This record gives sequence, C-alpha cells and structure tokens, in this order.
Amino acid sequence: MNDLKREIAATIVHDGPMTLERFMSLCLTHPRFGYYMTRDPFGVEGDFITAPEISQMFGELIGVWTTEAWRLSDSPTSVQLVELGPGRGTLMADVLRVARIAPEFLQAASLSLVETSPILRELQRKILSNAPLPVEWREQFSQIPAGPSFILANEFFDALPVRHYVKTVAGWRERLVGLDATGSLVFGLSQQVETRLTIAAQEGSIIEICPAAQLLMSEIAQRLVDYGGVCLIIDYGYLETSLGDSLQAVTRHAYADPLEAPGDSDLTAHVDFAALARAAQARGAKVLGPVSQGYFLQQLGIERRAEALSKKATPEQAYEIGLALERLTSISDERRHMGDLFKVMAVTHPDMPDLPGFFE
Ligand SMILES: C[S@@+](CC[C@H](N)C(=O)[O-])C[C@H]1O[C@@H](n2cnc3c(N)ncnc32)[C@H](O)[C@@H]1O
Repeated sequence: MNDLKREIAATIVHDGPMTLERFMSLCLTHPRFGYYMTRDPFGVEGDFITAPEISQMFGELIGVWTTEAWRLSDSPTSVQLVELGPGRGTLMADVLRVARIAPEFLQAASLSLVETSPILRELQRKILSNAPLPVEWREQFSQIPAGPSFILANEFFDALPVRHYVKTVAGWRERLVGLDATGSLVFGLSQQVETRLTIAAQEGSIIEICPAAQLLMSEIAQRLVDYGGVCLIIDYGYLETSLGDSLQAVTRHAYADPLEAPGDSDLTAHVDFAALARAAQARGAKVLGPVSQGYFLQQLGIERRAEALSKKATPEQAYEIGLALERLTSISDERRHMGDLFKVMAVTHPDMPDLPGFFE
C-alpha cells in the first residue's frame, strides 16, 4: 500500500466514504503524494506524451494564433498572457519564440503560469529562463491580475476532478470511494438519492460531471466579457453531453486500475465541451468550435510548416517531422493519433471577429 492509499484509507475509516471528486483531487494534487506534485510524467519514458512534446510545430502555430487573436482584439497595450497547467513549459517556450514576430504583443504582455506542482514549476523555470518577458507563477486562475487576457489550456481541463452519479431503482446516487472488508479501496454508492438529477436513463447508467471545469469556465468567460481576450482550450473530449464514464488511469502509456495505486497513475476524464460552452455562453461570451485538432492545425498551416522544417532537416529528422504531423492531425481511431480525439474550442469576448482555425 503506498503512502497516499494509506492516508485515503485512514480518512475513510474516520469520515466515511469520499466522493470520486475528492479522491481524484487527492490523487492528482495532494501536496505531498499527488501525481503531479511528485514527478515529471511526460515523454516516452514517462506515462504519457502531449502535443507540444511531440513537435515544436504545435506550439509555434498556437503562438502565431495567439498574436493574431491579440491583433484582432485591437492590439491592447497591456494584456495577461496565461497558460493553465503548462507541464514542462514546452508549449509556452514555443509560443514565445514565434511571438517575437510581434514585438508589440510581447511588450504588452505579462505572463502568468497557473501550476500547482513544484517539480513542474522548476522545469518551466528552466525552459523559460531566456523568455523575452518575466514569468509569474500562480496557484489559481483567480490570482491573475485584471485585464484583457489570452489564455491557453492544453490538456488541463481533463485533469480536473469529476463526480459520477449512477442510476439505481431508487434514483441517481453518487459514486463514492470506500473500503471493503479486506481494507482495499472499492467503488460504492451514496445512501441518499440526488433528487436534482431528473434525467431518464436505464438502471446502471452513469452521469459524469466536472463542477470544477464549469466553475473555472464561468470565471474565465466573465473575465473575457469584462476585459476582452480569448481562451483556447485543447483537450480530448466529446461534443455533446451524454451518459457514460470516461474516467481513466494511465501508467507508462497503458491503462491502469484507478484505485490500485492512488497518486502513482495519471487520472483524467474526457472533457464535456458542450457543458463548457454552455457555462461560457451563460456569461455572455462567444464560443468558436469545437473543431477537431486535426482540422484546427491544418487550417493554421501545419502542413506548410512541416514542409518548411523538413527542407532544413536531415532525412531522419524529416521522417520524424512526418510522423509528428501524422500523430497530431490524423483522424484515424488509432489511440496514438490525436487529430480527431482532441478538440479545440475558443471562448472570446462577444465582439471578437472570427479567428483562424475555426472557419474555412
Ligand atoms: C496533462 S498536464 C498538461 C501539460 C501541458 N499543458 C502540455 O500540454 O504538455 C496537466 C498540467 O496541469 C497541472 N495541473 C493539474 N491540476 C491542476 C490544478 N488543479 N491547478 C493547477 N495546475 C494543475 C499539472 O501539474 C500539469 O502541469
């Protein structure tokens, strides 16, 4: 039994079973034993790989997109550039490198990284040591100073904790994490029925909701409506709210049991883009997309960028660039292909003109 499992088991003995939301939150961000707090999980040697780690093309295109969004917002002279959950900092490093094409944007920007993990903050500090502007770290989005904001979130919302409700004969009951007779962690159900859920569904159906994602989306949308700017969300997820359980644990690029070794595997859930769009629109913000990542990157010119990079590359490097292009954009349902599984959505001030990537 690892340290976090021991602590969770003791909490359950003391307080009773905990919600899945609390369990997931402890697994990912417990100050001492949380998954992100204790390791660098990225890359071939780690547990998973993200788009900016696959190729510089991803961050470069997002950098060009961000400067264009700033220009189309009438080039405000003081803006917040924000990344939520920057991982190793690779995406922001690539964004800032290409943003040098728009020095007025860099002059206008104050950079904030929202990151809880001290280990990842350190990696971000290193990779951004030559950044063309000072870097500030924040624990939470609410700490970002007021002003027009340009916010990037790649594979961040999938790390926010979810709640599950299961349909029983009596009604919808919340999924909890408890202990069985042998002291192992097991899933169970709350005694009380959630009467606010009135959706008709077959017994055994599951509703997955992410209150933290919806709250954060509302907060971001309110800021964009008040001050202007845009938030770009890229993540794996689904377009329509539907029944089902998408919670998954991943260790070393393979699925794992979420209860087996809390804090030792990455726990995520697919993002409900329709729920995020509703939360943003309820605050008066405009929503573009979601479109597939493959479509978005193609609209931004990833093929031309790959061609340009390949011209200056060795044959081996050109081969790698081709593989990265395929992985980032292919819409096949092979697990490593991200083109269709990943979606891109922008939330903006209501007066923002159409932005590249979302339209023909
Ligand atoms: C899957 S990684 C994405 C990394 C990066 N965006 C990339 O594309 O490589 C999730 C990131 O979000 C951070 N994170 C997770 N939960 C968080 C929270 N509640 N608040 C702030 N950061 C969080 C993690 O430490 C990590 O940097």
